[in-house]
Amino acid sequence: MVSDAAMSFTRDCLKGKVALITGGGSGIGRGITSRFMELGAQTIIVSRKYDRVKSTAEELEKQVGGSCYPVQGDVRDYNAIGKIFDHVMEKFNKVDILINCAAGNFLAMPDKLSYNAFRTVMEIDAHGSFICSQHAFNKSFSKIGGGIIINISMTLHYTGALLQTHAGTAKAGIDAMTKHLAAEWGPCGVRVNGVAPGPIAGTAGMSKLGTSKAPVPHGTSKKNDAGDDELDQLTAFIPLQRLGNQKDIANSVVFLCLPEASFITGHTLVVDGGTWLTAGNFAVLDTAVRKAWVERGKAIRAIANDTEFTSKL
Ligand code: COA
Ligand code: NAP
Repeated sequence: MVSDAAMSFTRDCLKGKVALITGGGSGIGRGITSRFMELGAQTIIVSRKYDRVKSTAEELEKQVGGSCYPVQGDVRDYNAIGKIFDHVMEKFNKVDILINCAAGNFLAMPDKLSYNAFRTVMEIDAHGSFICSQHAFNKSFSKIGGGIIINISMTLHYTGALLQTHAGTAKAGIDAMTKHLAAEWGPCGVRVNGVAPGPIAGTAGMSKLGTSKAPVPHGTSKKNDAGDDELDQLTAFIPLQRLGNQKDIANSVVFLCLPEASFITGHTLVVDGGTWLTAGNFAVLDTAVRKAWVERGKAIRAIANDTEFTSKL
């Protein structure tokens, strides 16, 4: 593995920058916030649970130094996010960088998912990223003559991953938005890029999407937690033979925010050790999920007395 010392950016390379990170209170967003603070940025973190962003801000200021300002907010609430940007503009005079990291996810079969569950994920991920991006542009970037947006995406929609219709649809929308906004706002000095993480150890994403939590069959969940054996099996499928960590993602985000990346826009950078090439449809690797998937098909075809694939395909 590459040592921390070997992957250092120039100290203070983000000095003078103000960055707002949604979902910055936990997981990958927290990792990005911490790295930004190490490199001199002033950070603002926004999420629904004030206790979470407040304690993260206090811990990071103590551990890392620098500045982290916690704000309670729901990225789905257009007016509330607008007011947060107004408040941040008053307090910091600008926002240079927006990181859209807030998201919600779980494993679910599309035929069992409630419409509200689908809409909730679409609203947090896709609508939330648009809401924050538009406010960042109108309230800050258009006033200071430029800015940077990084959308945190994923790779599961590249392969149509099982149990991920809701999140995959939302993230595919985000990837499209990355390109649209890059084209629209490029002449205004705004760069828009994405980072698509693979499996990142120790995050909610990993614990919620571990396939031992998968709903099999028909909506019930398996009871065992993702154990070491299961992680070892996943790791064996990953070309670079390890899970990712928060620094892998944070360093990629930093790179895309630096002048060294000043000609990169509209791109989503996959940071996954090659996972999607070999295990992109990860749930289908799980025996129980695969069995439930095949059995559901057989059961539905049997209802139509069509146990072989015939004219309906
Ligand atoms: N499987 C299927 N449906 C689920 C679900 C699950 N594991 N968890 C929640 N839902 C459904 C709820 O039942 C509800 O639908 P209903 O009204 O038809 O019953 C709908 O999703 C909304 O749930 P609710 O808890 O009211 O929404 P919320 O806005 O508070 O929470 C979630 C959003 C569901 C995405 C929640 O998991 C969350 O807040 N996650 C943030 C953390 C996270 O997911 N991190 C991983 C990022 S990769
Ligand atoms: P996480 O810790 O649960 O991060 C999600 C964050 O979003 C939380 O801090 C949560 O805080 C916030 N959030 C959720 N709904 C919100 C809302 N409506 N408004 C504002 N904030 C909201 O999970 P993570 O695994 O680190 O995931 C972070 C990002 O990486 C996500 O975009 C995810 O899709 C992406 N990703 C993760 C992995 C992985 O392996 N972990 C892989 C691929 C992609 P509150 O609950 O306080 O609101």
